[in-house]
Amino acid sequence: MLTIEKINQFYGESHTLWDLDLDVQAGACTCIMGRNGVGKTTLLQCIMGLLPVVSGSLRYQGEEMTSMAAERRAGMGIGYVPQGRQIFPLLTVEENLQIGLPARKDRLRQVPEFIYELFPVLKEMLTRRGGDLSGGQQQQLAIGRALVIEPKLLILDEPTEGIQPNIVHHIGDIISQLNAEIGLTVLLVEQKLPFARRVADHFCILDRGQAVAGGEISELTDELVKQHLTV
Ligand SMILES: Nc1ncnc2c1ncn2[C@@H]1O[C@H](COP(=O)(O)OP(=O)(O)O)[C@@H](O)[C@H]1O
Ligand SMILES: [Mg+2]
Repeated sequence: MLTIEKINQFYGESHTLWDLDLDVQAGACTCIMGRNGVGKTTLLQCIMGLLPVVSGSLRYQGEEMTSMAAERRAGMGIGYVPQGRQIFPLLTVEENLQIGLPARKDRLRQVPEFIYELFPVLKEMLTRRGGDLSGGQQQQLAIGRALVIEPKLLILDEPTEGIQPNIVHHIGDIISQLNAEIGLTVLLVEQKLPFARRVADHFCILDRGQAVAGGEISELTDELVKQHLTV
């Protein structure tokens, strides 16, 4: 569904992604793993078109999108939940969700009901300001906002970072449910190993800007964990 070939990315002089390849299969839940600062967020931002790549290619459903604007990528059905959630603290929950609506192809003005079925807490808090929600509720809001476009591919950057354990479990359930029941393809960055093992079926390990290992989640050995993930 998403094929990344030999991408290179720089922040000024600093070479951050090196000849990076990644293949995300339709229907899979793929987890990108790696220590802090190896380039995980940078990779997702390149996929979303928020950062340019210097060379290499990104194809989505067979279509070349390497130099496509970020808005067009969203329009092609890629939903994005950024690291740190980035909801609008002064807007209400409903307004935060409505932000996603213009990227839809139809002219729907209402937030689709399935969002509230997935996250009942958002319905209860529609008129509350985003900034007044707990961390876990904000994460649900950020996922809800990404789902407003009814994406085919959902990309999440550390969705469990800084979240209470009981909500972490709920977020894992939601991701698994979207993946298994709705058939949404999922690409997530996650540092918590048990969470990754629970929700993902494929993995890719980044180390210093390179994809150094990948495969089915059952192939994520303790040796790989020790070599590339533990500090
Ligand atoms: N806007 C930026 N300008 C310069 N360097 C950056 C910027 N964002 C991230 N970096 C650097 O790029 C590297 C990869 O960062 P990042 O993709 O955020 O890593 P990760 O998400 O794996 O923790 C790090 O060394 C980080 O300091
Ligand atoms: Mg990051």
